[in-house]
Amino acid sequence: MRPEWLPEGADITTPNAARVYDYALGGFHNFDVDREFLKAAQREWPGVVALAHANRAYLGRVVRWLVDAGVRQFLDIGSGIPTLGNVHETAQDTAPTAKVVYVDIDPVAVAHGQRILRDNPSAVSVRGDLREPERILSDPEVLALLDFGEPVAVLMVAVLHFIDDEDDPAGIIRRFADATVAGSYLALSHGVPAGDDAAGQARVRQLYQRTPTTFHVRTVEQVTAWLNGWEIVAPGFVPINRWHPEDHHDTASAAVGAVARTGAGSVSCPAVPGGQTAGISRMYDSAGATEAGESDIGFHPSR
Ligand SMILES: C[S@@+](CC[C@H](N)C(=O)[O-])C[C@H]1O[C@@H](n2cnc3c(N)ncnc32)[C@H](O)[C@@H]1O
Repeated sequence: MRPEWLPEGADITTPNAARVYDYALGGFHNFDVDREFLKAAQREWPGVVALAHANRAYLGRVVRWLVDAGVRQFLDIGSGIPTLGNVHETAQDTAPTAKVVYVDIDPVAVAHGQRILRDNPSAVSVRGDLREPERILSDPEVLALLDFGEPVAVLMVAVLHFIDDEDDPAGIIRRFADATVAGSYLALSHGVPAGDDAAGQARVRQLYQRTPTTFHVRTVEQVTAWLNGWEIVAPGFVPINRWHPEDHHDTASAAVGAVARTGAGSVSCPAVPGGQTAGISRMYDSAGATEAGESDIGFHPSR
């Protein structure tokens, strides 16, 4: 039987990243095809569920950190199906007036978001594609809630690895960063090669070829290059479980994350096409040096 929460036109015959992630986190907005997909992925790469939980925990820590830093507006792109630890709950827990716009390409994520936010005047869920920054930045619902004359935190957590190189992830990031004023931030996480089981991870990537969103694992160098020139807050670009950790039992590390200051006054320069940059070796070289103060942009793969 078709559940009442399923929007018209949603394809439930093909596994879907939003619903697979929802299942991995223990949510209920998924179907047999998504559950079978995750079980197959787990057989190939047992760490995949732990990674989903570690990512969600990272998102929560990032939002709490941003609220503590004074941010009261959030644009969460690739927000997923609302489940435990939603951005508006986390942010409004401390700052009840915090405003949150959720954007996702998936109709189930958007429809469920709209339902749970019906009575929340400070949060909305809209359908949008990260690859179309101008549409998101000019969306009437986005502009009705967010004031881009004030600081905004743009969240791209566990979504950029669904963006092809041809769609220019670095350019997408720059466009959103450029739309923000001083005091704004951009936060991201991204899958990187799994040191312990690269073969299993590669097989999971192959499974994702069957979904509408191809999964790209990129090297730490490629991902950090996207933020080259932005001021990255401590502890820098690190495995997500090491970003202001609260739970030291959380050991998943096949994803990295960072929070960068954006907007006027923050330094920025375009990343080199192809995702590589000469600056990356400087980042590694300066990893141990703390003269950059709070802005330690070193990734510490061996720690
Ligand atoms: C792994 S979930 C991450 C959810 C949430 N950001 C988190 O970290 O907990 C990835 C989400 O990105 C969405 N997504 C994939 N490609 C997208 C695109 N081009 N534009 C917007 N959302 C996208 C998927 O539908 C899915 O809901």
